[in-house]
Amino acid sequence: MTSRPPLELPVSAVADPREAPPLRWAVVSPGHIATQFTETLGRATASRAVAVASRSTERAEAFARTHGLDAAFDSLPRMLAAGGFDAVYIASPHSAHHQMARTVLEAGYPVLLEKAFTMTADEARDLVGLARERGLFLMEALWSRFLPRFDVVRSVLASGLLGEIVSLRATHGQHFPFDPGHRLHAPQLGGGALLDLGVYPLSFAQMVLGDLTELTASGTLTPAGVDETVHVLASSTAHPRARASLVSTLAARAGNDAEILGTEGRLVLEGMFFAPGEVRVEMHDGSTASVPDPTSTHDGPVGPDDGLAYEAAEAARRITAGDLESPLMTWHDTIAVMEALDAARAQVAAPRTTPDARPEETAR
Ligand SMILES: NC(=O)c1ccc[n+]([C@@H]2O[C@H](COP(=O)([O-])OP(=O)(O)OC[C@H]3O[C@@H](n4cnc5c(N)ncnc54)[C@H](OP(=O)(O)O)[C@@H]3O)[C@@H](O)[C@H]2O)c1
Repeated sequence: MTSRPPLELPVSAVADPREAPPLRWAVVSPGHIATQFTETLGRATASRAVAVASRSTERAEAFARTHGLDAAFDSLPRMLAAGGFDAVYIASPHSAHHQMARTVLEAGYPVLLEKAFTMTADEARDLVGLARERGLFLMEALWSRFLPRFDVVRSVLASGLLGEIVSLRATHGQHFPFDPGHRLHAPQLGGGALLDLGVYPLSFAQMVLGDLTELTASGTLTPAGVDETVHVLASSTAHPRARASLVSTLAARAGNDAEILGTEGRLVLEGMFFAPGEVRVEMHDGSTASVPDPTSTHDGPVGPDDGLAYEAAEAARRITAGDLESPLMTWHDTIAVMEALDAARAQVAAPRTTPDARPEETAR
C-alpha cells in the first residue's frame, strides 16, 4: 500500500504587529470599536492613541482618562487644529464616515476609516479622489484582510492547490433584537445587515474571486425599513466557473464560517471566518492539513482579542513608508465592495444617501 505524501500548507507571512513603526493615533467617535482599537494599540503594537474627538466634552474626557490619552476634544475640527498626532482613526456610524474622513483629509492627515467604508460607492470614490489629490494615505479598516488567517488563504489560492474555484460560501449573522434607537436599526445612521455584517462576506468574496458580477440579492426589511436578512448570489469574471453565496442577517446568530470549493479540494474557515482562527484544507484525495492562527494562544505575537492590531500595524507600515494605500485592501477593492453593497441594497430596499448631518438629533 502506498502512503499519501503529507499535505503541506503555507504559513502566514504577516509580520508581528509589535514590530511595525510606532504612530501617534487620534481616535474619532469613542464608541464600542474605538475602545477595542485603542486598547489593542496599547497591548499589541508599538503605536498609541494620544488624542480623542467626541461630540461631547464629557465623553471625550472620560475616554482620554480611561485610556491614558494626552488630549480630549469635543469636536473633530478642534482636534485637527490642535494636531500632535500622525494619523486619524474614524469609528463613527457609517452615515458619518464620508463627511468626517473628508474633513480629516482636507486637514492633511492620513485616515484609517472603519467598515463599511461609506454609505455608497459614490462617497467612497469621492474620498479616494481626495486622498489621491492630496497625496494622503486612506484605508478601510476591514480588519479581517490583515489577519494571518487571510494571508494563508491568499497563499493557498495563489498556489493553485484547490484547483479551479467553483463555489464560495460565507455568512455573517448576529442577533440584534429590534431597537429603533440602536445604530444598526436606524436608517439615518446607515443601519442594516449589509453595511455592518454583509460587508464581511462580500469583501471576502471580492478578495477570493475578484470583483463580483451578475449580483442578485433577496432580502427582508426590519420595521424601520433597513435590510434585516440579505442573501446575495454573485459571479466573477476572473473565476467564470465560480458562484458565491453570501448571507448576512441582523435577526439571528449564525455559525459564521466560510468555505471555498475547488476542483481539487476545499478550504474551510471555521468559527467566525472574519476573525482570527485556523485555516483547514481538505483535498479530494483524502489528505487534510490545517494552519493554526498565531493569535490562537496567548503565547503568540498577539492575543486572540487583538485582531485589530494587524490593521493598525499595516496602516503604520504604509503611512511611514509614504504609501497612499495598502495592497491588502486597495482603493479599488473598497470601491468594488461598496458597488456590490449598493447593488445588493438596491434590490432589497431603496438606495441610501447620506442624510443631512444633524448629529445632536441622532441616536448614539
Ligand atoms: N472592525 C470591527 O470589528 C467593527 C466592530 C464594530 C463596529 N465597527 C464599525 O465601527 C463603526 C462604529 O461602530 P460601533 O459599534 O463602535 O458604534 P458605537 O458604539 O455606536 O460608537 C460610535 C460612536 O460614534 C459617535 N456617534 C454616534 N452617532 C453619531 C452621529 N450621528 N454622528 C457622528 N458621530 C456619532 C458616538 O460617539 P460620540 O457621541 O462620543 O462622538 C458613538 O459612541 C461602524 O462603522 C461599524 O461598522 C467595526
